[in-house]
Amino acid sequence: MATPLLEVKDLRLAYPGQGFRARPVEILHGVSLTVGEGETLGLVGESGSGKTTIGRALLGLAEPSGGSVVFAGRDITCLPSKERRALARDIQVVFQDPYTSLNPSLTIGDILSEPLIVQGATAKDARGKVGELLDRVGLPADAAERLPREFSGGQRQRVAIARALAPEPRLIVCDEPVSALDLSTQARVLDLLIDIQRRTGVAYLFISHDLAVVRHISHRVAVLYRGDLVETGPARKITATPEHPYTRRLVLASPVADPVEQERRRAERRRLAAEAAPDVA
Ligand SMILES: Nc1ncnc2c1ncn2[C@@H]1O[C@H](COP(=O)(O)OP(=O)(O)OP(=O)(O)O)[C@@H](O)[C@H]1O
Ligand SMILES: [Mg+2]
Repeated sequence: MATPLLEVKDLRLAYPGQGFRARPVEILHGVSLTVGEGETLGLVGESGSGKTTIGRALLGLAEPSGGSVVFAGRDITCLPSKERRALARDIQVVFQDPYTSLNPSLTIGDILSEPLIVQGATAKDARGKVGELLDRVGLPADAAERLPREFSGGQRQRVAIARALAPEPRLIVCDEPVSALDLSTQARVLDLLIDIQRRTGVAYLFISHDLAVVRHISHRVAVLYRGDLVETGPARKITATPEHPYTRRLVLASPVADPVEQERRRAERRRLAAEAAPDVA
């Protein structure tokens, strides 16, 4: 098999404990995963399971206490800040909150040209590229002159995606990129991400607590439970025939349109809950 674009091995990460002499609290207990070139790995798990922490470790925003992160054959686990900044060309990020992730005082044109100019583009080249980026994410060319507050949540998330695409990265960490959007906007932004991947071959680590969203966009899915990966496999297999009890609960918790199927899932969920906690049931 070809070398994966991203290879995370036995990643451990501890945050300092609260209070005087408190011991560090380990959040990730040895997570191993890979993302191939042009592939989407969905990372799913409940709130607090450590999904964002994995993303932060990949972006160099949190320092691992063990294990390794290898990107395109190079160990990037702990890089000096200058090399880390250079790596931003290859690894980009889109965050959940479209209302705080864009600088409110800059025009969309400035937001999108900044990463290009940092990389040495002339102002003129950057302007041309901004037009291309806006087009690629389905925004009108005149958006460049406007401020973030003039746009809806879905449109702002398109701007954030355009900004991530600007340096032509090989991997984008998407941390709950559609969770703040209404359902129909979610679907459109997901389809945009899929379309961009087809055209550019960019890979995604797609983080979400919502299995339905992850299933829609991912080739493979990794299930995180309290800082450990409990199951990894093809998206269809994980959602159709989950093996781990935690994954089964996640699948059953994800809403479906059919009321009969929904009732069947409710009953199954009650049965699993009773199995998991026989004393309480
Ligand atoms: N900077 C920090 N210092 C200390 N603890 C932290 C810090 N950031 C996160 N944590 C803790 O680490 C655990 C995992 O948090 P993380 O944000 O990675 O979860 P998550 O899976 O992304 O959850 P969510 O779905 O709510 O975004 C949580 O218990 C959280 O309280
Ligand atoms: Mg998170």
